[in-house]
Amino acid sequence: MFHPILKMGDARLLRVAENVQVFDTPELHQLVADMFETMLAANGAGLAAPQIGVNLQLVIFGFKNNPRYPDAALVPETVLINPVVTPLSEETDEAWEGCLSVPGLRGLVPRWSAVRYEGFDQFGQRICRDVDGFHARVVQHECDHLNGVLYPMRIRDMAQFGFTEVLFPELEAEE
Ligand code: NI
Repeated sequence: MFHPILKMGDARLLRVAENVQVFDTPELHQLVADMFETMLAANGAGLAAPQIGVNLQLVIFGFKNNPRYPDAALVPETVLINPVVTPLSEETDEAWEGCLSVPGLRGLVPRWSAVRYEGFDQFGQRICRDVDGFHARVVQHECDHLNGVLYPMRIRDMAQFGFTEVLFPELEAEE
């Protein structure tokens, strides 16, 4: 079932999410299914449970071709629960991000260039991956949602924040 996506300004986006305690339950599987349906309907690259008002440490991400990010490489479809993200070096880079909770806007955001992420899937199976590029960026963006952080809070130069239709007129209309 599709869920409305909360928008920036909603206090529920600013909470620290709680750990998932029990895996492989019908409720958890239903939540994951609902999140994929919601993300796909919105053409998102990722979605965090707090964005639909569920205050749990659960994010999903992944896509093959995404009209909102036409130049991004494939990221495997992933369910990541109770994640821990660790940078693999001091290196950072900046790239443009958007967020389904901040519709119509993009900002230039610094992120760790390469990270390890660890956690569990919805069945309780351990996940541990070392990633870089857009994959690393998406993970950091989604996991920020679990700590009440939205990407505009990380923009260094607010001159690099604006409307998608102005910054990237070649992208398909969205939102
Ligand atoms: Ni987001």
